[in-house]
Parts: sequence; C-alpha cells; structure tokens
Amino acid sequence: MASEKKERASFSGRLGYVLATAGSAVGLGNIWRFPYLAAKYGGGIFILVYIILAATFGYTMIVTETALGRKTRKSPVGAFSFFTKKKMGAVGGWMNAVIPMIIVPYYSVIGGWVLRYFVEYVRGNGASLAEDTYFSGFIGNAAGSEIFFLIFAALNILVIGMGVNGGVERVSTVMMPSLIVLAVIVAVYSVTRPGALAGVHYIFVPDFSKFSIMTVVAAMGQMFYSLSIAMGILYTYGSYMKDDVDVESSSYQVVLVDSCVAILAALMIIPSVFAFSGADAAQNLQAGPSLLFITLPKVFASMAGGRIFGILFFLMVLFAALTSSISLLETSVSTLEDEAHMNRTGATVFMFAVMIVLGSLSSFGYNILSGARIVGMQFLDFFDFLSNSLMMPISAFTTCLLVLRAAGVRVVIDEVGKSSKFRMRKMYSLSIRYFAPVLLVIIFLSSVLSALGIISM
Ligand code: PHE
Repeated sequence: MASEKKERASFSGRLGYVLATAGSAVGLGNIWRFPYLAAKYGGGIFILVYIILAATFGYTMIVTETALGRKTRKSPVGAFSFFTKKKMGAVGGWMNAVIPMIIVPYYSVIGGWVLRYFVEYVRGNGASLAEDTYFSGFIGNAAGSEIFFLIFAALNILVIGMGVNGGVERVSTVMMPSLIVLAVIVAVYSVTRPGALAGVHYIFVPDFSKFSIMTVVAAMGQMFYSLSIAMGILYTYGSYMKDDVDVESSSYQVVLVDSCVAILAALMIIPSVFAFSGADAAQNLQAGPSLLFITLPKVFASMAGGRIFGILFFLMVLFAALTSSISLLETSVSTLEDEAHMNRTGATVFMFAVMIVLGSLSSFGYNILSGARIVGMQFLDFFDFLSNSLMMPISAFTTCLLVLRAAGVRVVIDEVGKSSKFRMRKMYSLSIRYFAPVLLVIIFLSSVLSALGIISM
C-alpha cells in the first residue's frame, strides 16, 4: 500500500482537519438536496428528525470512522483488513469505497446545472432564468445540459490530474465563509418578503401528522450524504489526523457547521417558495431536485443588484460543489491505486470513464432517455436512491460490525481518548452497540420495501 511506502501526509492540526472535513461535507447536499427534501417531507418535522439523527447517529459515525482511520492510518479497504484480515473485511471496505464512485457522476450533473446558472448570470440572463419554464427547458435539452456536466466533470479530473487539490482547498477556505455570509443576506431578504412567514413557520414548526417512516429514511439518507459518512471519506481524513487532535469536539464542529449551512439554505429557499410562487406554492414545494434552480432566480430577479448576487452565489456554490466532488473523486482514485493497483493516471482515466457513462445516463434521463425507468425511478433519482438509501445503510452497518465484531468498541474509545477525555463515551457506546445497528436495519428494510412498491415514499 502507498501508505506503507511513503510517510502519510497529515493535517496541520485541529483547524486543518475541521476545515478539510467541513469542506468535503458542505456542498450540494446542504444547498441543493437538504432544502428540497425538507420541502417535500413536511418541513419542520423533517428538519427535527434530521437534527436529532445528525447529533446522535451522525456524530457516532463520524467519531467511529475518524478514529478507525487514525488508528490504522489507512483508507477504508485497508482499515477493514487491518482488523479482520478476512474476505468479509474487504467486502466492508469496498462497500465504503464504491459509494463515492456512484455518487460522483450524478453529483457532477448537478454541478453542471450550477455552472450553467453561474454562466447565465455572468451573461446577464438573470431574467430568463427566473421564468417558470427555464429550468425544465434547460434540462430537457440533451446537448445543453450534457455539455455543462462534461465541463464540470473535466474540471474535477483536471484538478485531480494536476494534483492541485490543495489550491482548490485554499480558495475554498475563502469561498466557504463568503458563501455563508451571502446566504445569510439572501435568507434575511427572503424571509422578509410578503407571504414568506408561512415558509418560516413551515420550516420551524413540526407538523407531526406529516411524520412517517419515510421521513426517517429520507433524513437518514440525507445525513449520510451531507456529512460525507458511510463512504470511506472520513476514514481517509482520520488517517491524516494527528494524534493530539480532539476527535470528539472536532466531530461536533463538523456536524454543527454542516447542519447550520443546510438550515440556512432551507431558509433561503423555502420561504421564497411561499413568497414567489403564489398559487403554485404547494406544488413547488414538491419540486424535488429542481427546487433550488426554480426558486432562487425568482428571488434574485426581485432584488436590487440581483445579477451580482446571482453571479456570486452560484460561483460560491460551484466551489462548494467542487471541493465536495473532488473529495469524492480523490477517495475513488486513491482506493483504485491502493487496492486495485492501478497507477494514478490509470485510476483517474478509469474514473473519468465511469463519470461520463453514469453521469450521461443521469443527464439524459431528463431528455432523450426520459422514458427509461429503473424500479420506477429516473436514472439520477435511481443513483441517488441506490447510494443513499440502499448502499449507505449497508456500508454504515459494516462499520458497526467492524467495531462490534472485530476491532472492539474499546479500540475506538481508546483512540478518541488519546487526545482528550471522551466525555460522551457512554452515549457513544450505547449508540454504536444498539441504536445505530437497529436503526440501520429498519432503514434498509424500509428502502427495499419502498423500492418494491410495498410501502410508499
Ligand atoms: N457531503 C457532500 C455534500 O453535502 C457530498 C459528499 C459526500 C462529498 C461524500 C464528499 C464525500 O454535498
């Protein structure tokens, strides 16, 4: 393994770890995916379930993956075989490693949409973006959307191929705080529009009659996605973490930053649905993946200086998306290097091919392949469902098994205890022993049943 040959690189300290992890965590998941899921699954009740899950289960998983990564100084496949030395271990490791390879192609399709909107704002076409039919026209046009997807995918490959991820990360340390500031301004603007308060109410007041098992399934999938867990990323980041960095509190900081950005995005978007969609509000709340793209242009169109806001906003989202997709791609490439013994160029070319094939399917699913369905879903929705609702529960379950059956809870507790007193030790151990595995089984079964049409989403 590469890690045995060279000395492993490491983060400069706590801040380095938190910034890198938050950079990977904050992305389209927060800004694009969270608001549309919250809108779709009943607003406040979804957000409440999400926060409870993130603070307990999400935190447990972050601590576990980071600690195991640091203990073994290996990426997921290596970390699994470190403890198990059996075929089973490799299965667990690969499960973690394959998920990013499925996500990064469709992630790049959405990245392409963001790029398109950025370019249109630069060209001064904000008014047409705000028209109701713009988005459907755009994704309905095969060549138009494919090109932006390919550019976004190529950007990723360039950054990885030229080994300049560090540069992108440095730029994003400026972009991320700026994105947050801008999002606060836009959120304040949207919640103060006439009619927007109904949206604030929708976000913050849980309506328990809207609760169902699907609320939990959706919130759980979103939690994995948004926190970058159950896909090996945090093993890798943990392996770069110095022994004296406090795992417990840095994990909390990552959860906190990530959740705040998600809620902020919901505040930008959901109240404006109420304020700007008029009679279509109820229908637009169900818009799904297109929600961000049909709502925000209306907000910018009504703002003084909307064009500048549009340019800056989509530029920053582009960076947030890039840092995340680069981290997805980087783990995929390094797993292929370490475990499939490809060289870096080969692994990068291989991933580019995977991105083009799976990403094009997702992109064409909105136009020339719009008739195609896999278990009732379009390609993009299918890849999203496959990775978030089916594979991530299995992958997180294998991590639980690794801890419970092979490594032992003590190993994690001792690893965390190396750098600080593990204050939540009791809660951690209950959570990893009982809460997490049971919940994971329930989630997985519900996803399967809903895909088979036995229960409804
Ligand atoms: N967490 C990122 C987001 O919210 C997506 C991601 C997942 C990035 C896994 C890296 C690894 O957009």
